[in-house]
Amino acid sequence: MGVTETMRAVRIAKHGGPEVLELVEVAVPTPRAGEALVRVSAVALNNTDLWTREGAYGRPGDPTALSGWRGPIDFPRIQGADVAGRVVAVGAGGDESLIGRRVMVDPAIYDNAGPDANPVGLMGSERDGGYAEYVTAPVERIHDVTDSPLTDDQLATLPTAYGTALGMIERGRVRKGETVLVSGASGGVGLALIQIARARGAKVLAISGGRKIDAVREAGAHAVLDRARDLTGQIRKAAPEGIDVALDVVAGALVSDGLPLLREGGRWVVAGALGGYDVSLDIRRLYLHNAQVIGSAMHTPTHFGLLVDLARQAEIQPVIAATFPLSDAARAQEQLARREHVGKLVLHP
Ligand SMILES: NC(=O)c1ccc[n+]([C@@H]2O[C@H](COP(=O)([O-])OP(=O)(O)OC[C@H]3O[C@@H](n4cnc5c(N)ncnc54)[C@H](OP(=O)(O)O)[C@@H]3O)[C@@H](O)[C@H]2O)c1
Repeated sequence: MGVTETMRAVRIAKHGGPEVLELVEVAVPTPRAGEALVRVSAVALNNTDLWTREGAYGRPGDPTALSGWRGPIDFPRIQGADVAGRVVAVGAGGDESLIGRRVMVDPAIYDNAGPDANPVGLMGSERDGGYAEYVTAPVERIHDVTDSPLTDDQLATLPTAYGTALGMIERGRVRKGETVLVSGASGGVGLALIQIARARGAKVLAISGGRKIDAVREAGAHAVLDRARDLTGQIRKAAPEGIDVALDVVAGALVSDGLPLLREGGRWVVAGALGGYDVSLDIRRLYLHNAQVIGSAMHTPTHFGLLVDLARQAEIQPVIAATFPLSDAARAQEQLARREHVGKLVLHP
């Protein structure tokens, strides 16, 4: 199989800036019973890589505490949630027919074995991730996409961004013909939300920054609203009847200003807080209109199954903004933080 004993990996041993990313030579992990060893061919970056490295998630009761999304990180930790690669070994007693298959890894660690389980951990955060030549994962989290027309780079862009987008769209119960509002539209999750909501027959209003408006429209948005200008005015004009579902990774003032723009029975799905986590809202606008605010963390196993189907049928076309060698992980994260690109950044171990 040609698996060497050591591998190159990029890991963090503490929270901090890009300088805490260290390129190291470590032992190739051994797959335990029920696990497989995957040779990583592509690993995509996500905003969570930055927040995990910085410790930017806070803790209940202490919003400025240095923390991973589920609490303290067990250092040293190899980052990277989004892996595409090939299975090179399986743990004792495992199904050897998996060896050689091209796979996409579901990075979630779930709270139970059921199809609607909640994600309570993430590869690259609660277990070692894919900023490395090899990674292990439980066999049930490894999905065979050998025959997908998508490239390995494209497959690597799917788990977190498209998984999160599918989770939001499913939890928000987006239906054909409904009007949806997408924030952070030029980002990884935002572009995925536009593509999937559009494919489901929704009318998509996307909020983005000035220079990326063309790219967001190209992804399928019916209208693009400029977040540098009066947003509520633009939303009212684009959707005079109101919004059915907001798919929001920005939150902050957008929630307070936007909630009154929901239609009767509307849903406001939040999966990020780039614009601020301390949100105030007029609660009357919620109960008087049977509106719902829905928190959405990643995806369930059922949502990930839908994503694997999309990948196999290539019903989505992920956009790659740039690729980097593993040794340039810090430079790639710096580029992600600048947010001047459109699409996903991918590392090649
Ligand atoms: N809940 C979950 O399971 C989950 C999973 C994945 C990601 N997330 C969260 O979702 C968010 C987006 O993730 P991502 O990977 O898509 O990030 P990303 O690729 O960096 O994209 C974020 C986009 O949001 C916009 N934006 C950035 N800062 C903003 C601000 N202060 N105010 C308004 N808009 C801003 C930018 O678009 P424009 O310049 O075009 O406006 C940017 O392209 C992050 O907060 C991330 O932590 C949550």
